[in-house]
Order: sequence, then C-alpha cells, then structure tokens
Amino acid sequence: MPAAVISMVLPLMLLLSSCSSSGAGPITSIFSFGDSIADTGNHCYLLFKAGKRANNCFLPYGETFFRRPTGRSCDGRLIIDFIAEYLGLPLLPPYFGGSPDNFHGGVNFAVGTATALHTDFLTSKLDVKITTTNVSLGVQLDLFKQLLPSLCGDGIQTGCRHLFSKSLFILGEIGGNDYNLPLTDGHGFNDDIQQLVPLVVGYIGFVLREIIELGAVNILVPGNFPIGCLPFYLTKFRNSSSMNYDPSTGCLTRLNKLSKYHNELLQAELSSTRQLYPDVNIIYVDYYNAVFRIYQAPEQFGFTGETWKACCEGEGSVQCGSPSVKPCDDSSKYVNWDGLHFTEATYGSVARSILEEGLFMHPSFNLSSSSRIARDSGDYFPNSF
Ligand SMILES: *[C@@H]1O[C@H](CO)[C@@H](O)[C@H](O)[C@H]1NC(C)=O
Ligand SMILES: *[C@@H]1O[C@H](CO)[C@@H](O)[C@H](O)[C@H]1NC(C)=O
Ligand SMILES: *[C@@H]1O[C@H](CO)[C@@H](O)[C@H](O)[C@H]1NC(C)=O
Repeated sequence: MPAAVISMVLPLMLLLSSCSSSGAGPITSIFSFGDSIADTGNHCYLLFKAGKRANNCFLPYGETFFRRPTGRSCDGRLIIDFIAEYLGLPLLPPYFGGSPDNFHGGVNFAVGTATALHTDFLTSKLDVKITTTNVSLGVQLDLFKQLLPSLCGDGIQTGCRHLFSKSLFILGEIGGNDYNLPLTDGHGFNDDIQQLVPLVVGYIGFVLREIIELGAVNILVPGNFPIGCLPFYLTKFRNSSSMNYDPSTGCLTRLNKLSKYHNELLQAELSSTRQLYPDVNIIYVDYYNAVFRIYQAPEQFGFTGETWKACCEGEGSVQCGSPSVKPCDDSSKYVNWDGLHFTEATYGSVARSILEEGLFMHPSFNLSSSSRIARDSGDYFPNSF
C-alpha cells in the first residue's frame, strides 16, 4: 500500500475503532420490555391463568408461521422474532410461565396491553376505565431485577456486567397504550392526551437509565408507529372532511402527529441520556418511518391489499380471532393484520430494513457486531475526507 494511502487510511481506522463500545462483539442474549408489539406469549398466559381469554390467544393468530396461536398479536413473527433469528438466538421465551433454566438466550417481559405509566397513576390522571394489564413498564423492570440473581451467577455486580456486555436490550415499543386508553374510551382526541406524552417519555427515560445502571450497554429504544394509519382508528375517527387526512397516505393527521410528538420527545430524552452515558449504545429505532414509507408506496413493498383495511377484521372493531371473522386469503399482501397490529410481512420488512440495510436506527448500529456504524458520525470527519 503506498504511504500516502496508509496515512489517509490510518486515521480513518482509528476513528472507526473509537466509535465502537468496549462491549462490541456478538450478542448472546436479548432482554425485552414492552407491549403487544413485542409480546411473545405473556398476556395470553396471564389471561388463561385468570380464566379469561383474548382473541389473540386463538387462531388465526399465528397461522402464517407458527400454524398455532402463540400469544403474539400477529399472523406470524414479530420484529423481535426477526431480530432473534438474525442473531442466531432462540425466539425469545415469555417471562410468565417460563423457567429461568430457559432464559440463557434472554427473556421477554413485554405484555400485550401494557402501558408505560403505572396503571394506578393513569387511573388517577385520566377519567378512563383501565382495561389493560397492570404489568406496566415499571412492573416489568421490577420482575427483571428480581430475576438477576438467577440470571447473572458470579454475583450481581460482575456477573451481570459480564452477561449484559453481550446482551441486547429492547425497550419498547412502549407508551402506545397510554394513549390508546383515552383514545378508545370515548374521549376522542383532546389535549389531555397530548399532556401525557412528556410523562410517558420521562418514564421510559427513567427505566432506560435503570437498566444502564444494571449494566446494559446495547439498547434499542423503538418509537411509536404512525397510529393514524391503523384501520381501527381510521374506522373510529372516520370523517368526511379531507383536511383530517394526509393526502399521500390517507392516514389521520392528528393521530400521526401524536406519534411524532412522542417520538420527538423520546429522541430528546435519549439524546440527554447519551450524554450521561457516552459509552453505552442507546439506539433510537424509527418504527414510525419504517412503516410510514410502506404506506406511501405499498405496492413497491409487495402490499397489494387495501392499506386502510386489516387482513383479519370485523366491522369497525378488533374482532380477529372470534369465530365469525375470517382472515384475508393472503396476509402477506396486507400491511395490517387485525386493525391495531401489523402482519408478519410488515414486521419482516421493518426488521430487514433495520438489520440488513442498517436503516431507521439513530445512530446507525450493526447488531451482528454490536458496534456503531461510523457512517452516522460523519460530522467527526475532517472536511478533507
Ligand atoms: C396485578 O393484578 C393482579 C391480579 O388482579 C394482582 O394479583 C397483582 O398483585 C397486581 N400487581 C400489581 C403490581 O399491581
Ligand atoms: C370532522 O373534522 C372536522 C375538522 O377537523 C370537525 O370540525 C368535525 O367536527 C369532524 N366531524 C366529525 C363527525 O367528527
Ligand atoms: C455488520 O457487520 C457484519 C460483520 O461484521 C457485516 O458482515 C455486515 O455487513 C454488517 N451489516 C451492516 C448493515 O453494516
């Protein structure tokens, strides 16, 4: 190699290596917190134990991939399943009904219907009937802490730090249900919901710092989806005035603005937390735009079904899983599965863009090497490059 080239390459390599954290290397376990977007069986387990049922605990949920219901709110795999597959890890076992012996590759605390804020707090804050699980984000964190002695071996301090240096934490999506509660309780859209956003985001930030203090060094924090594109809300808030809709997608503008507001505050929260912990990989995952681009050009992504309709949906409400509702013939053509949740096809598309193309992560992050990709840190390079 000519000397001139070496002298240009060397500083570049130094910059690149200084970008990756000390924990860089293959991921050997995943710990997940959240709601139905990531729940791999917790909510259904809790319901069955309480003698209750929810539609997503029955077929046709699971029909596409598992050929049986697994408690996932989807016809097949979730984003978290694609991440586990990509990392060569077992699909993440749900915490409830599981045994620590099975948690070597990690464990999933996400519970369908979970809120970020504690349910007692939401009850006092909102004039709504709480219909969600009480296993909110803080409760999930407590369960995680209780599990540490059996997870970490070798003493909590050193054992956990060693384990978590090779672990991926996924904190979310969470918070969507805090807004769904008042939105679906007949309150419609009002300023009270907007005022929840800083509280929800502040709480996510608190839990983020807690898991960092416990030793987490690789953390994905997904934002909220464009909820104004969900068939459930498109039906509920149907309005003849075109000014309520985004012309490029037909999605409800006000609801999407709520998601964007949440995501903006969340990114600010992550940014200030990064300053406290510069060596920790705190990665915002832009679920909003990963899905929104599909709504802008569905055919380009293979979705030829109507985007405002769910593959499996009763008239106007989430009834997939009840005997009277028959799903569409080919769920891979539909963006949405049951009115509130996406199809495996959509989750797969989002996961591929994140994992294979390295898109929609800020800063860019390579999950297979668990190191930041220098591309995003372009500002650090001298102009001469
Ligand atoms: C959640 O509800 C269950 C059943 O109603 C109850 O046993 C449990 O103590 C509650 N947990 C919390 C953290 O409030
Ligand atoms: C439809 O939207 C307009 C403009 O936002 C609003 O004034 C009107 O009340 C809405 N109509 C219904 C039926 O919700
Ligand atoms: C991530 O790193 C692996 C191995 O180091 C490499 O093969 C892959 O192309 C990288 N992926 C991205 C999206 O940069």
